[in-house]
Amino acid sequence: MSGTSKLTVVGAGAVGSSVAYAALIRESARDIALYDIAPEKTEAEVLDLAHGSFFAGSSQITGGSDIAVAADSDIVVITAGAKQRPGQTRLELAATNARIMGTLMPQLIDVAPDAVYVIVTNPCDVLTLLADESSGLPAGRVFASGTALDSSRLRWEIARRAGVSTSSVHAQIVGEHGDSEFPVWSTATIGTVPVLEWRGEDGTGFDRAELERIAVDVRDAAYTVIRGKGATNYAIGLSSARIVEAVLRDEHAILPVAPVLRGEHGIDGVALSVPCVLGRHGARPIAGTPFDADERAALQRSAESLRAVAADLRG
Ligand code: 2OP
Repeated sequence: MSGTSKLTVVGAGAVGSSVAYAALIRESARDIALYDIAPEKTEAEVLDLAHGSFFAGSSQITGGSDIAVAADSDIVVITAGAKQRPGQTRLELAATNARIMGTLMPQLIDVAPDAVYVIVTNPCDVLTLLADESSGLPAGRVFASGTALDSSRLRWEIARRAGVSTSSVHAQIVGEHGDSEFPVWSTATIGTVPVLEWRGEDGTGFDRAELERIAVDVRDAAYTVIRGKGATNYAIGLSSARIVEAVLRDEHAILPVAPVLRGEHGIDGVALSVPCVLGRHGARPIAGTPFDADERAALQRSAESLRAVAADLRG
């Protein structure tokens, strides 16, 4: 994969087209291909993106309904599948989207055997485990976008309350990209100030009740957006484009994403989000990421919830 820079986005729905749009604007990849089984829709999305490319930079946008458009990809972002209806949990999509993924992955690996695979389709953690197992790819080459998106939501919620830039908030959501996710408050800081010790200009800070409200707002953010507009797409598009950049540029940047854990943090055989180093290798969990006792217990609970859903799918 040296030097080339091809992203294929699988799925031309609201999420997939937003991933392609964000990648085009941010010039995340030199070549961006959009693949979906619906020829007319896919070609229209590609045209609409291409028509704006003069204003977007140097990325080349192509695509269509032939899997060959994904040939020789360096990274593949998979968004195809059923989306949550209002009030529906991500885990309730598991059976339907597992079938779609089971068909897609072998076809993609056949044309793009050297790619890094990022699973966005929900439930992304469970689907990552199944895709990783069936792909035979090296550890870390398949991972879920996971809580990179939720951590952006958390940083925004803290930043707007503290009156600081989002980029100055250092806080992570870990675990399931879903109802059992949680913030790692023990290491969260605003600038270099621990969140719990922060005092704004008016002297106010964050008490435990406020932190709990923030955690709930972040956990339920997608439900709120889906209830209002039918789907989320912009934030997942931007977070996915950022992941693409970290991989293609071999940045060794740290983001919370979800590879299959193989003993890290005392968890084995489950994909869930923990801080990982991202690069051309894919995602590598950072050994020694500190969690306090409550956080370690919450991570185990999240793992057990995901393990149960994967077991159901295996039947
Ligand atoms: C999100 O969190 C629905 O998983 C998607 O926006």
